[in-house]
Amino acid sequence: MKILVTGGTGYIGSHTVVELQNQGYEVIIADNLSNSHENVLDHIAEISGKRPEFEKLDFSDPQHTNNFFDKNLDIKGIIHFAAFKAVGESVKNPLMYYHNNLVSLMNILNNMSKHGIENIVFSSSCTVYGQPEKLPVSEDSPIQKAWSPYGNTKQISEDIIYDTLNADQRLKGIALRYFNPIGAHESAKIGELPLGVPNNLVPFITQTAIGIRDQLKVFGDDYNTPDGTAIRDYIHVVDLAKAHVIAVDRMISGKGKKAFEVFNLGTGNGYSVMEVIKSFEKVSGEKLNYKIVDRRPGDVEQVWADTTFANNELGWKAEKGLDEMMASAWKWEKALKEKESGL
Ligand code: UFG
Repeated sequence: MKILVTGGTGYIGSHTVVELQNQGYEVIIADNLSNSHENVLDHIAEISGKRPEFEKLDFSDPQHTNNFFDKNLDIKGIIHFAAFKAVGESVKNPLMYYHNNLVSLMNILNNMSKHGIENIVFSSSCTVYGQPEKLPVSEDSPIQKAWSPYGNTKQISEDIIYDTLNADQRLKGIALRYFNPIGAHESAKIGELPLGVPNNLVPFITQTAIGIRDQLKVFGDDYNTPDGTAIRDYIHVVDLAKAHVIAVDRMISGKGKKAFEVFNLGTGNGYSVMEVIKSFEKVSGEKLNYKIVDRRPGDVEQVWADTTFANNELGWKAEKGLDEMMASAWKWEKALKEKESGL
């Protein structure tokens, strides 16, 4: 059975493709390669033994998108990752974010209706909760006004999917609200490849430790948390990827309870920035150069997931702990360095 993975050469997409292939799905990736490399296809093939089909495609281009779906009539479900994802960039270029993230989704949904492709899994984010009043945060917590255009595209996308499914009763969808995905495949053949200076904590840590960056800045130690640094729910990208396969299975086998379902994907544990640093130092044996600076504007103080719904309904639970996540991120960073130096 063939699944289209948009953004399948990206960080979460590539890990999900491997897990889909492991479960016997055939995969076609479509990606515009704006933030990833075509050689990821080779690395996926090295892991799974199977090279996915690939089309270079920008889903915000309606003509190209329509042509793609017209000639790929055997797609049974879609996992839609292809989107811009940098919070700061979205504040500077809101229209670029609204255009890319929303138009792409609408072009895809249009083709689902046109071709009777019934199933879509959408990558959403815990950013839709803002700073929740109650922790851990469950799926029925109120959605807060988005803190960035990026976050707003996730909220609006969920609404667009909900309304489209409502209008075309053949269609089903699952939105997966990710907490903080980190780590890499155990083979160290695929992982996160940030363009330029990373915004996210873990790639910044590993790049600092390997010597690409001088120093990690810890954004704020005056939060109302036990050690004063901000708390997040970090989840291993492979655990996250596996949940996508279960979501696809659920829709295809008709086990879903509603046309549109929403699940939190986290571990249910919150860790502070300092705890992440300590874990990294422990598993890598490296001393990290860091300093405490002011808070980063727009950061929430603390958020972690109530995963009861995903655990019970999907029969899924994140398995990997923080040390394992940090060890895999470090292994990936070291593998990248070896590759670059031609070892
Ligand atoms: N942090 C640092 N130094 C850095 C980078 C991050 O101290 O150099 C801290 C942040 O202040 C935050 C924590 O590490 O407390 C995690 O930061 P990330 O940037 O890794 O992740 P965020 O939680 O800010 O962002 C994630 C996703 C976004 C999403 C957002 C919603 O990456 O896509 O959650 O809160 F929008």
